[in-house]
Amino acid sequence: MTSKAVLHHARSTRWILAAALAVSACGGGSHATAPPGPPSLVEQGAGLVQAKPCLVCHTTNGGSGAGPTFAGLAGSQVKLSDGSTVTADDAYLERSILDPDAQTVAGFRKGLMSSLVPPHSLTTRQAAAIVAYIDTLAGRPSG
Ligand code: HEC
Repeated sequence: MTSKAVLHHARSTRWILAAALAVSACGGGSHATAPPGPPSLVEQGAGLVQAKPCLVCHTTNGGSGAGPTFAGLAGSQVKLSDGSTVTADDAYLERSILDPDAQTVAGFRKGLMSSLVPPHSLTTRQAAAIVAYIDTLAGRPSG
């Protein structure tokens, strides 16, 4: 390689770097790395728990709140106020969201959730997306 060619190579590399920086800057950060296409079910669920009042009462990190934490909830054994124990499978979680007063978790207030999330105020699809998101928190310790 002649010194002229090396110089040319260095210049074009710098140009490519500058162009890459410009693209990531105007993409607002997330768009530059996110794969194209519609959000996944889990991403929709994560967005919904923020758009709805869920996080007023629930935490996603095991912390306590007016309602049970979502962390470690999926697949766990939940004690209900009637003394029975159920497994928090997808069907149970979906029912808890669509019909909050159908079953009440022991130690928590019946009717509190439905005061802000009336029965069937979410669609089955929205509930399924939230359940998919809660499933991703199954491995976290519950508080
Ligand atoms: C005003 C407070 C409040 C809000 C807002 C709220 N919840 Fe709840 N949630 C509770 C309480 C209290 C319980 C436990 C009593 C019961 O089972 O109803 C509960 C129970 C649940 C359960 C069952 C938890 C378990 O340990 O078995 C799920 C799942 C759930 N909520 C999801 C949601 C989602 C999703 C939203 C948002 C769309 C939401 N909640 C909004 C208070 C709330």
